[in-house]
Amino acid sequence: MFQALDLIPYPLAIVTAGDPGRRGRRGGAAVAWLTRVSWDPPLVAVALGLARYTYELIKEFRSFAVHLVSRELEDVAYNVFGSVSGRDVDKFDLAKIVPVGARKVTAPIIGKAPLILECELVDEHVAGDHVVVIGRVVEAYRGSAEKPLVFYNGSSAELKL
Ligand SMILES: Cc1cc2nc3c(=O)[nH]c(=O)nc-3n(C[C@H](O)[C@H](O)[C@H](O)COP(=O)(O)O)c2cc1C
Repeated sequence: MFQALDLIPYPLAIVTAGDPGRRGRRGGAAVAWLTRVSWDPPLVAVALGLARYTYELIKEFRSFAVHLVSRELEDVAYNVFGSVSGRDVDKFDLAKIVPVGARKVTAPIIGKAPLILECELVDEHVAGDHVVVIGRVVEAYRGSAEKPLVFYNGSSAELKL
């Protein structure tokens, strides 16, 4: 059954939170369990493991940013944002990314992501071993013209559209 569930296609994204200018108070995680859940207001939902440092930062700052991942960001999505904890390292330094401030919320922005969504935390629901955080999208823009990747059955691929 669990292998069958891997056949659900997802976007590949990096969710960030915290203060862009403060090492130790900023972070982010690679995520695949992400979806839009309401037209009006525009809401997105992300399932985060309960122990994620990124979740701690989201709760503290009441906001987060979603970045779709292109080929250019694929390596740091897996090897930095998706594999170490922000409790132990500053992932932006490790990824050699200087985050910029968000336009409307407090969150570190990876400026070269193909799509950036700035979100205010509006709700959260524990779901098994994850918590679904729901964000109201208050700003959405493109950081590059690169194509976003999809995550499917354990690997990522570029859309052929
Ligand atoms: C491709 C990929 C997809 C992932 N998707 C999720 C996800 O949807 N939710 C989640 O909580 N963790 C996901 N992870 C795991 C987190 O990114 C990883 O545990 C990260 O180190 C958490 O960092 P943090 O503790 O600093 O928040 C994924 C990792 C990878 C590589």
